[in-house]
Amino acid sequence: MDKIIQKQIFSQAKEWVLAAGEIIRTKMNDPLIIETKSSPKDLVTEIDKEVERFLATKIRETFPDHLIFSEEGYGDQLKSLDGTIWIIDPIDGTMNFIEQKRNFAISIGIFHNGVGEIGLVYDCMANNLYTGLKGQGAFKNDQKLPHLTENLKLEEAILGFNHYWLCENDVIDERIMQQLVKKILGSRTYGSAALKLAFIAEGIIDGYLTMNLAPWDIAGGMVIANEVGAVSTNLDGKPINMLTRDSTLTCHPAIQSEIINDYLQKGKKVN
Ligand code: IPD
Ligand code: CA
Ligand code: CA
Repeated sequence: MDKIIQKQIFSQAKEWVLAAGEIIRTKMNDPLIIETKSSPKDLVTEIDKEVERFLATKIRETFPDHLIFSEEGYGDQLKSLDGTIWIIDPIDGTMNFIEQKRNFAISIGIFHNGVGEIGLVYDCMANNLYTGLKGQGAFKNDQKLPHLTENLKLEEAILGFNHYWLCENDVIDERIMQQLVKKILGSRTYGSAALKLAFIAEGIIDGYLTMNLAPWDIAGGMVIANEVGAVSTNLDGKPINMLTRDSTLTCHPAIQSEIINDYLQKGKKVN
């Protein structure tokens, strides 16, 4: 993507994501209408929908040739990643939003012909905006984030993942995941994929893995984390499918192959 166009799109996206955060903060203490989607743990509120509607309206008014791929139904039906696509999760961490009133984020990843060009993850309660522009670095509130250190051993790493993967499940052998937890320095779970990816960019965790997420959970955060040198693949070490749900590992490059070969591939269950 042309650098001038990238900057123009970014400055609009930044303005809108900050405005969307203001919508959330203003309505934060209003009574919420909470609905469940695929399961009792898969939640949505009218504020998730309002934020997505707000962003989709702005994008369509300003960039009519761009496409939108988003969680709550205001986007387009995509058949490919051709063109400029805004991949949006209006609130990543809806359970935290409802139960904790913090630890959630608005996530936007802007892809051009399949390449992640711009990422924004806005923790609007802490007022922390993480951003990344392909080839320009990653930032937290306009402060450039340093590139990852050259070396890291797995036993020195803090990894983010959902504790669910330590329970019996259909995708990965939980005993292998338990071995991984024993090997690493520590594990963390925050309830927002977007924030975990932003935390990799910030250098406060060294990786994030999960077996099943939608493109809007990871699109923004991945662009940001990749800008400080983190690498992203699926559980098989292949590029993540950004059109459908997939597994994902984003981490410091020094620990990527060990996690994939010694843990994820060994633990993977064939359905
Ligand atoms: C969820 C969060 C959470 C992850 C879930 C996602 P949502 O997104 O990213 O960290 O474990 O799988 O669905 O539903 O709050 O947008
Ligand atoms: Ca999400
Ligand atoms: Ca969401």
